[in-house]
Amino acid sequence: MNGLSQARTRVLKVDPGCPDPAVLHEAARVIRRGGLVAFPTETVYGLAAMGTSIPALKRLFKAKGRPQASPLTLHLWSTQQVPPLVRFIPDAARRLVARFWPGPLTLVLWKSRRVPAMVTGGRDSVGLRLPDHRVARELIRLAGAPLVAPSANLSGRPSPTSAADVLSDLEGRIDLVLDGGETSLGLESTVLDLTVDPPAVLRPGSVSASDIEACLGSGVRVGLGDMPDLRLRYAPGPRLLLFEGPDPAAVVGRILRAYRRLEAGGGRVGVLAAEESVPLYTAAGLPPGHVRAAGSRADPAAAARRLYRVMRGFEAEGFSCILAEPFPDEGLGAAVMHRLRLAAAETVKE
Ligand code: TXA
Ligand code: MG
Repeated sequence: MNGLSQARTRVLKVDPGCPDPAVLHEAARVIRRGGLVAFPTETVYGLAAMGTSIPALKRLFKAKGRPQASPLTLHLWSTQQVPPLVRFIPDAARRLVARFWPGPLTLVLWKSRRVPAMVTGGRDSVGLRLPDHRVARELIRLAGAPLVAPSANLSGRPSPTSAADVLSDLEGRIDLVLDGGETSLGLESTVLDLTVDPPAVLRPGSVSASDIEACLGSGVRVGLGDMPDLRLRYAPGPRLLLFEGPDPAAVVGRILRAYRRLEAGGGRVGVLAAEESVPLYTAAGLPPGHVRAAGSRADPAAAARRLYRVMRGFEAEGFSCILAEPFPDEGLGAAVMHRLRLAAAETVKE
């Protein structure tokens, strides 16, 4: 089986609340034979391969165009799978697992010898995650071993939140997509490194640094510098310019000036806005299709859910440039801002 020369990628619909066992068995069979299967989780779609099969891992890196030095995370269906994969379980891990698993929190722990170096990019640590999604967990259980599951996008692109997103990046490069509709959270899991003291948030997500501190009763560091693949940028096709600044009205003014300048230069320009400012752009004469709300500034969960959808929408419609408003940089808003800053070709400060 060679995923890269495949004529087509099969798509099977699956009900996220009540998945058809026959479909899950078929997907697990494909994975056990060394194939690549995209599947929904509560965060984004993942691309599953056997975490114990070197040929399957090689195919996965190739299909995504992902550098092999970039570590993969193992996805589990039960906490009982943790002990054989790690050297020891720190007290902090026990508490976090009890509080946040299943859910959008990836824990980085010292790995045991059972975890192949190809999974961890040669690192001595391994990322573990137990997704809060019936399809994901049933699939992992039926596959019979921990599965690696990076986001099911081409390396460097925004993560997929629907089966259509997966196909637009990976059609013909993978064996099967389980289509379980839109994912509910829309942003990748929080990655927390427990091999350092204090623990470090490597990637912010729905479980915030303060949620983690409240659970542990001690501080965590928000250190993005340790992310091994920070240069993989979650970036859409159009050039994204992020306008930072404390005053929303001033940001709207700056974006309007940039819009006019870029449009006069022949660009097809879109604005990724907070809901509150959409009427301001419309009043200034921007065509409605060019201004899209990710969510309200008061509801970062909505912005998280729609962020990649809006980016991919502009891209699919041939926009050349996206001018993005900032969201409040705290809680889940911090995760939204982290992705926007990485996706940005340029950050425009006041
Ligand atoms: O929500 C998610 O986590 C999704 C869904 C599909 O589960 N998966 C996902 O996987 O986002 P991926 O591979 O795209 O991102 C995992 C991140 C990577 O940026 C990687 O650098 C980091 O976790 N990571 C994994 N293992 C690590 C390790 N041992 N040390 C430091 N960072 C690690
Ligand atoms: Mg990814």
